[in-house]
Amino acid sequence: MKLSLSLAAIAALLPQALGISRWDTCGGGGVTTGKCDDGLVCVELSEYYYQCLKLAPPYSPTSTSTSTSTRTTSTTFVVVYEHPELEQLYLDFSINFYKHLDDDYVQYKFFDVRNIDICLPRCQEVQVLRSSAEFGSAIPGTLNKDYTWPSPSSVDYFLGKGMNFFRIPFMMERMSPPATGLTGPFDSAYLSGLKTIVNYITSKGGYAALDPHNYARYNGSVITDVSLFKTWWKNMATEFLTNDHVIFDLNNEPWGIPATDAAALMQAGLDGVRAAGATQSVFVQGTSWTGAWSWESSGNGDAFKTISDPLNNVVIEMHQYLDTDGSGTNSTCVSPTVGAERLQVATNWLKANNKKGFIGELGAGSNNDCISAIRGALCLMQTSDVWIGFAWWAAGPWWGNYYQSIEPPSGPAIARILPEALLPFA
Ligand SMILES: *[C@@H]1O[C@H](CO)[C@@H](O)[C@H](O)[C@H]1NC(C)=O
Ligand SMILES: *[C@@H]1O[C@H](CO)[C@@H](O)[C@H](O)[C@H]1NC(C)=O
Repeated sequence: MKLSLSLAAIAALLPQALGISRWDTCGGGGVTTGKCDDGLVCVELSEYYYQCLKLAPPYSPTSTSTSTSTRTTSTTFVVVYEHPELEQLYLDFSINFYKHLDDDYVQYKFFDVRNIDICLPRCQEVQVLRSSAEFGSAIPGTLNKDYTWPSPSSVDYFLGKGMNFFRIPFMMERMSPPATGLTGPFDSAYLSGLKTIVNYITSKGGYAALDPHNYARYNGSVITDVSLFKTWWKNMATEFLTNDHVIFDLNNEPWGIPATDAAALMQAGLDGVRAAGATQSVFVQGTSWTGAWSWESSGNGDAFKTISDPLNNVVIEMHQYLDTDGSGTNSTCVSPTVGAERLQVATNWLKANNKKGFIGELGAGSNNDCISAIRGALCLMQTSDVWIGFAWWAAGPWWGNYYQSIEPPSGPAIARILPEALLPFA
């Protein structure tokens, strides 16, 4: 989704600056590398990646005076900077933080392992597949402070409702510390945390998708050396060779790169998984945040025609939100029919190209229009024969009052979305 809850931090305000364009990087690793264009501020989205963004009132860059802020306080969730307006911003952290960005979302997002998403089994054939922690920005970060893993009791809750798929986002920089890079050893504690929750899910019959939630980026840069990515996946798949309920979800939401680059990266990751001898399903994602509605217009349609798996066990993962800009940040849906409408192009593409698809993130608000729209999308999927399932965004212990959260006991989407839109398909 086009939203990074919590740990993003404002690095420096660069008033009246001219230079770096919106959404381009302005630094990382504690330094700013240039000034953002007039009207933009340099926002630290991870320790290693700052980006020029526009803030909406009252957080206007011209109303602030200093260009270098000092980290003064660490709280549980956020790094607080000295500037009072920024502190206020952090007090409003999570969803509210992004309401202060002019268009409700940023184009670079780090998520964390505290999210799990749920798939409902009946819109799919998960059997077909068998033929064959990213919140926060601190790296490595501290367990239960900067990030956490999904809770077993929540897993039980969803399994008990007939949901059988859990997507486990985690951060590659924590798994593979930048000091030793993508081909270095995995962090043993972080890997162990991942394995614990994955094994919990699969031992109870669920499917667990490993989701390096990295937007085709690592350590602040787009991953351009696909051979490193191939090795990374070969090493990761080796850790899960014997668990047939594991799914390898190669990378979350590439953006800002050509569709052909996203496809090449995914092909390399897929090749790495197979080179390890792993036979489980592999999910691949396209550029433009792997949006279903833009699958053709983004170039993904052409670029992913040739993705190839010797085991024929690759699934095209797409994401879809039903608010105006498709970002999953506004609980108003475009219309009661927008769900099926937004999936139509992708459904046609999957049919025409003999591919299987999976909606890895679906989300909308708890209101009549959205519930109709979700049901319409799921009905289209069920009757199309090309979609094997979907996952709702989001669940996980740290989502707070995010309107799409179905985390028990009181996620805001539990009261209506779960019984009215999701469980009928479970
Ligand atoms: C990660 O980024 C830091 C800061 O730019 C750099 O010093 C380091 O070499 C990078 N590490 C890798 C493995 O790319
Ligand atoms: C959400 O979207 C609706 C419809 O596009 C719009 O009227 C409303 O202002 C938006 N809400 C926010 C908080 O942006």
